[in-house]
Amino acid sequence: MSINTPSVLFVCLGNICRSPSAEAVFKKKATDHALTIEIDSAGTAGYHKGAAPDKRSQAVGEERGYSFKGLRCRKVVEQDFEKYDYVLAMDNANVANLLEICPEEFQHKVALLLSFSQSEEQEVPDPYYGGKRGFEYVLDLIEQGADGFVQHLKSTQP
Ligand code: 4NP
Repeated sequence: MSINTPSVLFVCLGNICRSPSAEAVFKKKATDHALTIEIDSAGTAGYHKGAAPDKRSQAVGEERGYSFKGLRCRKVVEQDFEKYDYVLAMDNANVANLLEICPEEFQHKVALLLSFSQSEEQEVPDPYYGGKRGFEYVLDLIEQGADGFVQHLKSTQP
């Protein structure tokens, strides 16, 4: 990150469903709101390293105008906590996994994505073993979190 460019890392378990969707959604919203921010995503597990996002995530996301081009799965590494200003997790298990490997001095960067939304939901549930409606719901929640995070950045950026 440069001194003035904020940065965010979206995190889930596999980095093939929720966090790449959050990355795709937030890239579009940041562009729409003319926000300059570095955006990436990663998973706390490395099962799918190098894989493209799940086809079901891509299908529902592309229907809403989001691009998944070039996104590839990677695992969170310790340097991410220094590099990124915000490390936004999809669920509480992700938060717990992140805090286990996050140096003390950076733990304040780890939060739930939905902590920025007005949503009653706190967590974006894992859609992996469910049907298309689960993927639609995940995207609804991610959009709410992303909108709230846009407002947060707008209120904190000069
Ligand atoms: P994600 O979903 O954490 O939203 O990417 C999952 C993807 C894969 C697995 C679990 C969750 N898996 O067990 O392979």
